Amino acid sequence: MLAASIFSADFANLGRDSNAAMNAGAALLHVDIMDGHFVPNLSMGPLVCAAVRRVCPDTFLDVHLMVTNPKEFIPAFVKAGANSISFHVEAVRQPKELAAWARDLGVSVGLASNPQTPTTAIQPFLKDFELHLVMSVHPGFSGQGFIESALEKTKWIRERVGTGARIQMDGGVDPANGARCVAAGADVLVSATALFGKPNIEQAARELLDSFTLGGRVE
Ligand code: DX5
Ligand code: ZN
Repeated sequence: MLAASIFSADFANLGRDSNAAMNAGAALLHVDIMDGHFVPNLSMGPLVCAAVRRVCPDTFLDVHLMVTNPKEFIPAFVKAGANSISFHVEAVRQPKELAAWARDLGVSVGLASNPQTPTTAIQPFLKDFELHLVMSVHPGFSGQGFIESALEKTKWIRERVGTGARIQMDGGVDPANGARCVAAGADVLVSATALFGKPNIEQAARELLDSFTLGGRVE
């Protein structure tokens, strides 16, 4: 599946671009939240997420929290219409407990990890999340080059979770590496630049989906 990261959309035309990505074949929208602490950049907050929810009432919204204190912000994003919320293993002391707490608020939960974070950090929590988010760039900016070692991490996770969780790869995904991400075991591929950075979103989505040889919407 293709997850369209709205971080590279035209923010002055966010509704238009969000709908264009979904109409072009994206399965869900990926909403990148940056707090200026966990990552050296700021992006958007719950108000923007709620605005996207209004223009895309039936779309699966996948919120990626790159923030130091995810617990503080999870309720606001649930209220803003998130269907899934991922937080970073590097930011949380008790990932399993936080996941259960967030799930009780009505969302599915993902565990994200940075490129340098070893598999030993996520190993204890492999069975506690619906989704594992493997960063294939250093979080904070779109438009960076794909980090190849993320493929090994994805493969390692897939070998252990089987069909029990989704695996998302996020960062630098493009038609040249999409097939390798899928071969490594990823089933949700996030793209910002290779989609919204192109003059024709429909054609860009088609090229990405052809490279994955997968498609479909999440309901
Ligand atoms: C990076 C974000 C990514 C980013 C992907 O911190 O988590 O979701 O938007 O951007 P591209 O596809 O341009 O690497
Ligand atoms: Zn992201």
